[in-house]
Amino acid sequence: MEEPDLSRKEKGYKLNRIRPGAQRGGELSQLDLAILLAAGEGKRMKSYRAKVLHEIAGRSLIAHVIKAIEPLASKELRIVVGANKGEVIQHLKQISPRAKTIHQEVRGGTGHAVKIALSDYKSSGTVLICSGDTPLLTSATLSELLEHHDSTRASATVLTAQMPDPSGYGRIIRSSDGMLEKIVEEADASQSEKEIVEINSGVYVFALAHLKSALLELRSKNAQGEEYLTDVIGILKKSGQSVAAFSADDYTQIWGINDRAQLSTCAFLMNSRICDALMRSGVSITDPMSTWIDITAEIGVDVRIEPGSTIKGKTRIADSAVIGPRSTLIDCQVAQGARVVESHCESSAIGQGAQVGPYSHLRSGSILGGNVKVGSFVEMKNSTLGANSKVPHLSYIGDAKIGSDTNIGAATVIVNYDGVEKHQTTIGDHVRIGSDSMLVAPVSIGDGAYTAAGSVITEDVPSGALGIARARQSNILGWVLKRRKGSKSAEAAAKKEGSK
Ligand code: UD1
Ligand code: CA
Repeated sequence: MEEPDLSRKEKGYKLNRIRPGAQRGGELSQLDLAILLAAGEGKRMKSYRAKVLHEIAGRSLIAHVIKAIEPLASKELRIVVGANKGEVIQHLKQISPRAKTIHQEVRGGTGHAVKIALSDYKSSGTVLICSGDTPLLTSATLSELLEHHDSTRASATVLTAQMPDPSGYGRIIRSSDGMLEKIVEEADASQSEKEIVEINSGVYVFALAHLKSALLELRSKNAQGEEYLTDVIGILKKSGQSVAAFSADDYTQIWGINDRAQLSTCAFLMNSRICDALMRSGVSITDPMSTWIDITAEIGVDVRIEPGSTIKGKTRIADSAVIGPRSTLIDCQVAQGARVVESHCESSAIGQGAQVGPYSHLRSGSILGGNVKVGSFVEMKNSTLGANSKVPHLSYIGDAKIGSDTNIGAATVIVNYDGVEKHQTTIGDHVRIGSDSMLVAPVSIGDGAYTAAGSVITEDVPSGALGIARARQSNILGWVLKRRKGSKSAEAAAKKEGSK
């Protein structure tokens, strides 16, 4: 099958993104190190899995943050892990092999975590610090933060935002001249400090030398008995260093996820972003509220996505295809102009102009050629269907290779499993399989062959032959009149006889 042309889509999609290096001009200082904090337990998720491994839009929370950091091209990436560290490290190996993981044995606070991350880091330079649970953060905002940090020549710059509901966040305390003074955690804040709506995002840029010396002065005399990274700001300010705050316009970007309700809110926002970007690049989405598209999907121009559809994983949809209503595509390739209605498809390829559904189930390895039709209540698995062939109604097609221009009659079942092993079926071009046939694998039907309806085909049918495998019908005349005397059927039959 031809690879769908997705080039236009890819161009459109990137409008919204920053290419590595594009935002950071020569005048910006090199980012030497990025630290991601991800050792927390995420207790409020009430989950067996690590919080940062929960997913939105087809990517783990931590993968979203790593993707946002990527274009800043930091020389090194260090990730502090702790709770569920085994599975977190395993995941990081897959998504970011260059990241160095650092184990924080006891959760001593964000300041403690950064101390550990830097314990064997010798060089100076600039460091970016983020949390692993803020998946909505964008590269553009991080770039602006760095730019601001560079232009003020501060030793620390905090990313802040005006939060409609600031509860739970550290508050930004500014002096009467509007300059950043310190950060106060909610647990330690006075009543008047709690009324401040400018909050700490937990994202910072530091001059490494200044950060390292300030970390040495951290104490854990606070409501939570932890070493707060936030205290570094006050410490630097007191020692005469300049500290700066950069306020993000879009406060939703710094929403952190602590529980399942926030996970769903962030998933919704991320989905809106994805749908918006796609619509701007020429995709019609009838109802973005009921359409869920993973960030990893690629969708072409003039594709129309009808309500209630979900597009997951590495799905690629070529130009002018129509998906939905209510269809799910997981890791599928859909060629130009194909139509998928009310169907569930996984790891399958759908050819140009093909029609799938309503109510089809394409399981893994279904390869459909151009202009095929797979209709209602048809399940396919590990099978190919050649160009222009049809499986229109009520069938199971498993482990079969079907040629082109072939028609599979209604209610045909490929009997691929003998209870122990799966077997292959081969069906040629221009074949006509009669309705309600059982094709018992391994079996092969030659080019241009026919099979009679209701047959149980256990032997190969040669090219051009008609395969019939059923008892010949015989009619026992007058049986009802004799054996069902007095029944309504007998009456009806007698009336018919009399009228002759
Ligand atoms: C932190 C900030 C707060 C800010 C908020 C933004 C501190 C003290 N407070 O609060 O000002 O408004 O983030 O979301 O920094 N972590 C570790 N090791 C630890 C503790 C935490 O790796 O010992 C990690 C967590 O996994 C998480 C991040 O650091 O990714 C932030 O920790 P969390 O406990 O969520 O801090 P908040 O209370 O949200
Ligand atoms: Ca948090």
